[in-house]
Amino acid sequence: MEERKGFGSNFGFLMAAVGSAVGLGNIWGFPNKMGANGGFTFLIIYLILAACCGIIVMIGELALGRKTGKGAVGAYKALSKKFKWLGWLGILSAFLILFFYCALGGYCIKYVVLNVGNLFNAGFGSNGLSGADVFGNFMSNQMESVIYGLIFVLLTMLIVMGGVGGGIEKVCSVGMPALFIILLICIIRACTLPGAVNGLKYMFVPGWAVENGVIPKAPNFFSVLSTAGGQMFFSLSLGMGAMITYGSYLSKKENLEKNALLIVIMDTIVALMAGLCVIPGRFALDPEGALGGPALLFITMQNVFDKMPLGSVFGILFYLLVVFAAISSSISLLEVIVAHFCDKARDAGKGDKRKAYSLIAAVAVGLGCVLVCLDCLGGAGIAPMDLLGVEKSGWSDCWLDFFDCVSEGIMMPLGALLMCLCIGWEVGPKVVDDEVTLEGNTFKSKGFFNICVKFITPIAMLLVLAGQLDSFFGFGWFG
Ligand code: PHE
Repeated sequence: MEERKGFGSNFGFLMAAVGSAVGLGNIWGFPNKMGANGGFTFLIIYLILAACCGIIVMIGELALGRKTGKGAVGAYKALSKKFKWLGWLGILSAFLILFFYCALGGYCIKYVVLNVGNLFNAGFGSNGLSGADVFGNFMSNQMESVIYGLIFVLLTMLIVMGGVGGGIEKVCSVGMPALFIILLICIIRACTLPGAVNGLKYMFVPGWAVENGVIPKAPNFFSVLSTAGGQMFFSLSLGMGAMITYGSYLSKKENLEKNALLIVIMDTIVALMAGLCVIPGRFALDPEGALGGPALLFITMQNVFDKMPLGSVFGILFYLLVVFAAISSSISLLEVIVAHFCDKARDAGKGDKRKAYSLIAAVAVGLGCVLVCLDCLGGAGIAPMDLLGVEKSGWSDCWLDFFDCVSEGIMMPLGALLMCLCIGWEVGPKVVDDEVTLEGNTFKSKGFFNICVKFITPIAMLLVLAGQLDSFFGFGWFG
């Protein structure tokens, strides 16, 4: 039978896993959510959640994948009769996330090109327009966003076609260190701008954002908890099988516990670093600009580069960095889908069907991405609210928000909750212990893991899920 090829080295695995974790979520989600939710207080809650839930689910997913040697669907099937469908939730989440992720990835490519245009004073630059006008024009030229979105899908597909060791590992082993260096350069530039210190205060000083009128009122504890929890899942790529899939390619020799810890630490460090680059720039050069969502990355940041000496060079570097971060995440999402179908074909003796399945999956993703690009940000076309016959709201007015709400808001925390129930109560945490302690490795946090996976993590997950539902649907449960 065809051999199942995995990562060539632990470094390669680590870079791929960190690459999956580090993405758009870190660059525009984390810094803004941290500032708007009490700065340092948010960070502490985030870190506690990452320790009691993030690392636990990470160890659990990596162990499940490596134990079964299968993608998300196969892993749950092999593990438990009751939970055998859970992997499909992961595949569905992967599709929904890819739909909007690729559209946004495409915007990032467009902005690399735009800044190259600015550097050479070419017609495809900003042509003296403000960040908001450039973005507005781009949005109203839906064909352009479709083309860039599809370029992003194509790049993702080509890397996944190259396989785990050949495509994914190679790209991430170069891309991740490069991202780190570019990020450092951008941080130095942003933090040395006059006025940048307000950005640091926004991010780190509790209460600063409220006292200075950046946000109207301090959020309550539950909403901070659920915002931090939702952010953590998305940012660590948990609850939808990406880490199960990458774990399934990891060698039995490697220390799972240490790898899980490193992924969580590196993801958090990069999120903080991204904040140090984006937020001080915004406070220094575009104090009225948006602080979150696509507008932060594509309007506020472009305004910052327009006002900065050598701005187009920093613009190119910055948007390249975002493209790297986004692509190393989108390949892990596509791999969740492709790995499952490849495994199935291999088990049926049909040989290596990676290229064919990558193509089919990419075509499906491309269709969803076109839908998001065509209607995104309130453009023409059918919105989810028309189709579902519901009122206009934050999640129903465009496809981007709709896919984001369903995947990030509901399916990922639910997936993580069910994974904990499966490991903690259905098959028992010993499965994870047996896997982690293979080849003489020790499981230092075993006692902590067992308590968390059974009690603490599921309870925290329920709260996060309730808070996410509340904020998306405005039930008003948490005030
Ligand atoms: N973690 C990625 C980010 O922060 C998004 C992602 C979610 C990637 C789920 C893979 C799986 O942007």
